[in-house]
Amino acid sequence: MSQSLATVAYIGATILFILSLGGLSNPETSRRGNLFGMIGMALAVLATVFGPRVSPSGLAWIVGALVIGGGIGLYAARIVKMTQMPELVALMHSLVGLAACLVGFASYVDTSIQLEGAEKAIHEVEIYVGILIGAVTFSGSLIAFGKLAGKIGGKPLLLPARHWLNLAALLVVIWFGREFLNAHDVQAGMPALVVMTVIALLFGVHMVMAIGGADMPVVVSMLNSYSGWAAAATGFMLSNDLLIVTGALVGSSGAILSYIMCNAMNRNFISVIAGGFGSGGGAPAKKGDAAEPQGEVVPISAAETAELLREAKSVIIVPGYGMAVAQAQHTVYEITQTLREKGVNVRFAIHPVAGRMPGHMNVLLAEAKVPYDIVMEMDEINEDFPDADVAMVIGANDIVNPSALEDPASPIAGMPVLEVWKAKTSIVMKRSMASGYAGVDNPLFYKENNRMLFGDAKKMLDEVLVTLKG
Ligand code: TAP
Repeated sequence: MSQSLATVAYIGATILFILSLGGLSNPETSRRGNLFGMIGMALAVLATVFGPRVSPSGLAWIVGALVIGGGIGLYAARIVKMTQMPELVALMHSLVGLAACLVGFASYVDTSIQLEGAEKAIHEVEIYVGILIGAVTFSGSLIAFGKLAGKIGGKPLLLPARHWLNLAALLVVIWFGREFLNAHDVQAGMPALVVMTVIALLFGVHMVMAIGGADMPVVVSMLNSYSGWAAAATGFMLSNDLLIVTGALVGSSGAILSYIMCNAMNRNFISVIAGGFGSGGGAPAKKGDAAEPQGEVVPISAAETAELLREAKSVIIVPGYGMAVAQAQHTVYEITQTLREKGVNVRFAIHPVAGRMPGHMNVLLAEAKVPYDIVMEMDEINEDFPDADVAMVIGANDIVNPSALEDPASPIAGMPVLEVWKAKTSIVMKRSMASGYAGVDNPLFYKENNRMLFGDAKKMLDEVLVTLKG
């Protein structure tokens, strides 16, 4: 492929990536957005692999790596469960970071790159910064993977004087950066590069370990952003314009998402990075942890739930992580249809951090064909709970926890939540009294107008549907 054809393909891919991001901003256009992204990526890969910069002898290696890597990716995508998606995404971010590190070291030792003066200095800065971002992304994403998969506890690791440790790490990295740029040859520069890489890896581990359970959404989107900047840095090292543009697109959209997440959690970005949210009082978010009983709960049966729903004029459904675990979205859709046919006004309330990844609930509801116009964002619907007859909470916990508003000492104090307790009756569907991801007790369960429907969400909703139809 000639250089000009490759350039045209790169421009085409860039436009497709921009259209893809535009499409992903709305559920109705997100399928098309995904398609644009896939076509853009296919074009980018073809133009790079068959482009002028790959020699015929290198082609076999690249195609071999593509087949192996693509095969592993295809297999992972096929077997991954919907609930494991956030972990998979975190793992993929770590691979982008690893790639940036490897490309950085490779271009430093590449003897075919002969640069002098300012050009050499710029190339070395690219390498140093690229490896720095890549290493932080790599180790940070691996820890995020462990936390999301429940392999590492959610409780933040707060080392004494951790801010000083971070500051010291930054100063050491700057000092070694100077050493690296002053080095006359690869042998002299390599020790500084290796020391910086180790420090960056440790910093990535420390940064994510210090973040409390409830702040994980911000971390997930922040690492998404870092992986973009790592890709952009790789693009600079390889002088690949498309990689620079794509990396910058991912980096900046991830940064915007982190900002939105911070707003949704009523948190400021710096304090998230400083760590600790979700640390005080609440139990670590280990699987199956039960909260201390705080009073009496009133259980309800599936048949009674169906009765309440049938008699209601207005119902608001609040889905959470448990709906994803139970894969209950299709039954939720059928219940919605049945109620709407009976003239009940059914709407969905989506908290920005419901589930385990941005847009988690929207994806599940779209998959089940729930109409978009009855799926509301938290800000659009929170004021409507007092007018609702029934608020049905399906496998959600932290996002409907009133202590976020009522208890200043709560680890999630200040986080906006869906105020389901203001409905005439709220029904919480979950298997036990266990706490949610943040490991915080939930006083909603003990409120007078709240009922608990204990059991797997799919099984319970199937029973509700049978009674409703009967
Ligand atoms: P959670 O607070 O994690 O609560 C989910 C509840 O679902 C659990 O209490 C669990 O109780 C129940 N559950 C699990 N499996 C179930 C099943 N098969 N049937 C019925 N119930 C089931 O979820 P949430 O309310 O959606 O809040 C999300 C939390 O995750 C927030 O703390 C958020 O910060 C965090 N987080 C979010 C993200 C993103 S980006 N969205 C990323 C990382 C972390 P039982 O065990 O008693 O059934």
